[in-house]
Amino acid sequence: MPFIPIVDLQKQYFSLQAEIDAAVLACLREAQYVGGKQIQELEKALSNYIGMDYAIACGNGTDALQLCLMALELPPRSKIIVPAFTYIATVEVIRLLGYEIVYADVDPDTFQCTPETIDAVFSPDVKAIIAVHLYGQTGNIAAISAFAKQKGIFLIEDNAQSFGSEKNIRRNSLITTSFYPSKNLGAYGDGGAVFTNDASMAQKIRKLANHGQTKKYTHELVGINSRLDTIQAAILQVKLKHLDQFIAARQQVASWYDDALNDIASLHLPVRSPFSSHTFYLYTIRVRSDNRDALQQYLFNQGITTVVHYPQPCYRQQAYLQENFSLMNTELLCKSVLSLPLYPEITKEEIQYICKHIRLFFENEAASKAM
Ligand SMILES: Cc1ncc(COP(=O)(O)O)c(C=O)c1O
Repeated sequence: MPFIPIVDLQKQYFSLQAEIDAAVLACLREAQYVGGKQIQELEKALSNYIGMDYAIACGNGTDALQLCLMALELPPRSKIIVPAFTYIATVEVIRLLGYEIVYADVDPDTFQCTPETIDAVFSPDVKAIIAVHLYGQTGNIAAISAFAKQKGIFLIEDNAQSFGSEKNIRRNSLITTSFYPSKNLGAYGDGGAVFTNDASMAQKIRKLANHGQTKKYTHELVGINSRLDTIQAAILQVKLKHLDQFIAARQQVASWYDDALNDIASLHLPVRSPFSSHTFYLYTIRVRSDNRDALQQYLFNQGITTVVHYPQPCYRQQAYLQENFSLMNTELLCKSVLSLPLYPEITKEEIQYICKHIRLFFENEAASKAM
């Protein structure tokens, strides 16, 4: 029986081994571990790639969000709207900085907040929105951005999962990303970045990420230590050159899944939003909530790893509990989503094996109901 993981990072390393090894060795030989020209070169390449004026590399995608919020200096206890269906990092930073989380529901097709779900929870105490580009594509950010502008509030875009879904971005928002190893552009450790078109904001975020200093031992702001390691910057420079090709491979895999699964009535396949390309960071299907867990177990028994992103709304997590609160689509999605294995190097034969077993699961189910 084959074993198919949800992602396989080793295969990608082997495909780039010569380039990666040379880049890492160069850092070791130069004994440059923090800062230096690798960071500056990466920041330039990143900002060129997505078309924003400034990129500030930092320790991870969570810090990138925290740095944005620190830079905005919102009034104490400000409210911030965030989707309840996201990775916990997005809400964690709000609470860490003493702000109040306001959960918005998401659209069940794109899995993201819409201007309508945001408007439904808006109040005058809301000072910012964090929109999350979940699973690999961008939601209706033009409309969300117009909403934020009309209300005079800030917009942060958490693009940890969708780096590469848009290029030539010319927006006023602050945009963050993560270089966690499994991400579209993954380092070999933690990493993240903030993007902005505002020169003074870029300078402030850079300062905040380096203990509030621009000159050594001169601390103008209360900052944090959130620097990207030089070795990670060297690795990311190599991988950035191959990113478009990796995204194209992800899209190819997604179309194999689509072709093999689109006639199974019990499945909802991923919907492409009209607002960006879909990079397929994740290929997440929706299954009826009463058999999602059974499907996951069945696939596991066939050597196929799947993951539920995410099993609980953020407001049900112990640390963020909001009693007597629920959002309809968020609840539904937590019970029905299932992410299938997807990485650029997965083979068509592996996808066929996975899809054959998904089909068998539903055929067995139908047969047992008919008995
Ligand atoms: C939507 C989202 N936001 C933020 C993060 C945080 O990124 P990091 O793990 O680099 O801190 C992640 C990482 O998984 C994420 O998926």
